[in-house]
Amino acid sequence: VRELRVPANGLVLLVGVSGSGKSTFAATHFAPSQVVSSDAYRAIVSGDANDQSATADAFELLHHVVDVRLRRGLLTVVDATNVQSSARASLVKVAKANHVLVDAIVLDVPESVAVERNRARTDREHGAHVVARQRGDLRRSLRSIRKEGVRRVHVLTPEDVAGAVVVPERP
Ligand code: CTP
Ligand code: MG
Repeated sequence: VRELRVPANGLVLLVGVSGSGKSTFAATHFAPSQVVSSDAYRAIVSGDANDQSATADAFELLHHVVDVRLRRGLLTVVDATNVQSSARASLVKVAKANHVLVDAIVLDVPESVAVERNRARTDREHGAHVVARQRGDLRRSLRSIRKEGVRRVHVLTPEDVAGAVVVPERP
């Protein structure tokens, strides 16, 4: 069993390409109210979780909800790809403003696995080119994320996921 320690009153960033299993991991290890997902807010502001034109408005709401939850001392998990450093930076900023820690759980899945999973989905229309671009972003992220104000970076391969347990701990 691999224990993933995360801050009980802080922020957890899920990081991974589309199809890496972020939403599945979130549903397995966290309560629904602890998970703030970009898809959910895209759906709220556009009626369609896949509407990329709704991204800016969705993230404005997502950041606000993260801010309020952290201020209230609640463990909060961001279910978004978070493969771009700019996306992580804005969330780290929200955590810093609330004086709480940030950990990341990276789902490091081979590109072929993510593409194959997405092919089988009915809730996503992303083609292989989207995953390829995100995979490039992720590769750069794995080099830089430890210098971005993220405390612990848990990197999980598909084999690691089944044996992982999340352990929230008070700082
Ligand atoms: N899946 C799987 N085995 C896993 C994890 C996920 O077969 N260990 C499947 C899920 O059932 C789903 C697909 O792979 O059909 C994508 O998983 P999901 O958790 O939805 O991936 P996300 O990373 O959340 O993808 P997105 O960024 O597109 O939301
Ligand atoms: Mg998802």
